[in-house]
Amino acid sequence: MTSEAAQPGIGVGTWAWGNQFLWGYDPQRDDAVLEATFRRCLEVGLDFFDTADSYGTGRLNGRSEELLGRFASQCSPQQQERLCIATKLAPFPWRLGRRGYDKAFAASQRRLQGQLKRVQLHWSTQRYAPWQEGPLLEGLADLVSRGAARSLGVSNMGPKRLRQVHQQLADRGVQLASLQVQLSLLAPQAIEPGGVSEVCRELGIELIAYSPLALGLLGRDPQDPRPNPKGPRGSLFRQLEPRLVALRQAMAEMGRSKPGGVGAVALNWCRAHGAMPIPGMRSIAQVNAAAAAQSWTLSSAERLELDQLALAPGAARMPANPFQSA
Ligand SMILES: NC(=O)c1ccc[n+]([C@@H]2O[C@H](COP(=O)([O-])OP(=O)(O)OC[C@H]3O[C@@H](n4cnc5c(N)ncnc54)[C@H](OP(=O)(O)O)[C@@H]3O)[C@@H](O)[C@H]2O)c1
Repeated sequence: MTSEAAQPGIGVGTWAWGNQFLWGYDPQRDDAVLEATFRRCLEVGLDFFDTADSYGTGRLNGRSEELLGRFASQCSPQQQERLCIATKLAPFPWRLGRRGYDKAFAASQRRLQGQLKRVQLHWSTQRYAPWQEGPLLEGLADLVSRGAARSLGVSNMGPKRLRQVHQQLADRGVQLASLQVQLSLLAPQAIEPGGVSEVCRELGIELIAYSPLALGLLGRDPQDPRPNPKGPRGSLFRQLEPRLVALRQAMAEMGRSKPGGVGAVALNWCRAHGAMPIPGMRSIAQVNAAAAAQSWTLSSAERLELDQLALAPGAARMPANPFQSA
């Protein structure tokens, strides 16, 4: 174990909080556990929470924000000050112009009971409506300029667009705080030469790694006795698993003697590349495992071995986000 200085911490993903389709959420069964999960996060110092106004399926739309707002409202003022709840506002086609996010922001802030600190553009519209996101970003910058939100982030952007957006905001005196992209051992594009991580480092933009465990697949030891999840996650796991033998074996060896096990290896690989992973958490055990991961860092040799496996020609890949811009 090494103690390399100043690697990013770990944040908390909350996509599953309200999502029935992919994550099998059940309010009666899950809400008390999620509340305990949230409390445990604060106890161990995990205070960055990522959510979105589109999280929650069907009639449960907005549920993730609602739950976070309910839990955060019961915190002490000191805890609330430490908390950073970041939501992502979807650039739906009907959200247009500089005021296009006004209603959405107000609704998120209501569901979050005033605890919303960072607003993020959920995805880039460059591929299908390139004229849409510029004015929406101006609107988000207006929120920061007038103190309604503390900071601004973007998501699913590539290096070219990231530079342009950073400049657009800098021209009006707003610093782009963060970029959130899919980043894991099965989605390493951001850290490849010419990838967004270089731009983030150069421009001082925090890099946030979403789906750092490849929807949970990378958190499972090959000997894990649990059956694969049902539904689309299970299908994806079955499709990818046969091509992950070498990677999973290396991760299992590295994780064997380390706090947090193989999941911690996957999270610490993101941290070793300068990104803050935001694993989806929905149990106290997962929070404890994330906290354990934060207690150590990968050695240079371990990082190199994982890089070689992840970047090898023909290595297994998660499906790319179709809205990711160049
Ligand atoms: N910006 C975007 O477009 C975007 C897209 C996707 C996700 N996100 C954000 O990123 C967050 C994380 O991504 P994700 O939820 O897609 O997937 P993920 O973090 O890759 O995987 C989450 C799953 O991993 C398992 N897990 C959690 N902690 C673990 C640990 N310490 N060790 C082993 N397994 C562990 C859990 O599965 P089980 O509970 O089944 O055991 C959990 O549900 C989301 O919640 C969301 O906030 C953003």
